[in-house]
Amino acid sequence: MNRSYPGVLIVFEGIDGTGKSTQARLLADALRAEDRRVILSREPTDGAFGQRLRASATSGRLSPEEELQLFLQDRREHVETLIEPALAGGEIVILDRYYFSTMAYQGARGFDPAEIRRVNEEFAPRPDLLLLLDLPVETALERIGVRDGEGNEFEQRESLSQCSDIFHSIRNEFVRLIDADQAVESIQQAVRAEVDDFLSQCP
Ligand code: TYD
Repeated sequence: MNRSYPGVLIVFEGIDGTGKSTQARLLADALRAEDRRVILSREPTDGAFGQRLRASATSGRLSPEEELQLFLQDRREHVETLIEPALAGGEIVILDRYYFSTMAYQGARGFDPAEIRRVNEEFAPRPDLLLLLDLPVETALERIGVRDGEGNEFEQRESLSQCSDIFHSIRNEFVRLIDADQAVESIQQAVRAEVDDFLSQCP
């Protein structure tokens, strides 16, 4: 294994409604119960840049360029202040979204996902495991309460489909597709199987 830090970086990704936050929390709890040192974090973060991004979801969306730059600033700060120090200290870092969300969501707003990936991988450590929670777009829309013919549901369906396509196009040895169209406990078991398999190979 060619890793430059003693910690382990586990990332949850997927479109809205796939249950990432629940699974990230369950995994963190389970690993802590085994006395492992775990840091659970998320993007957008709770820092100043992340708060601005979350606020923009209700107060009016930023321009595509401004939004992309803010996600990058938020991530740079997250990497410098939390992710890298924790990995250097040998912790298991669990992230609820990371730069693959920028590829998917800002990709759906017109930017080139490959270029987004290149820019991010210049400063953001690659994950050891990318757990991609997979759910049909229709089911995801139902779960987040978007119904046929309501408001901007067509736009939401279109952009989530694009995000889903981009997530599925990500190829790497660290990607694990997890079927998220099942009960929380079953998803949790599938996640545990992948994580245990990875940890058993770590020195
Ligand atoms: P989400 O994890 O869904 O936040 P919450 O728990 O508050 O619902 O993330 C908020 C939104 O941010 C989500 O729609 C995806 C989007 N996002 C991007 O567009 N680009 C990114 O790089 C990241 C990390 C998130």
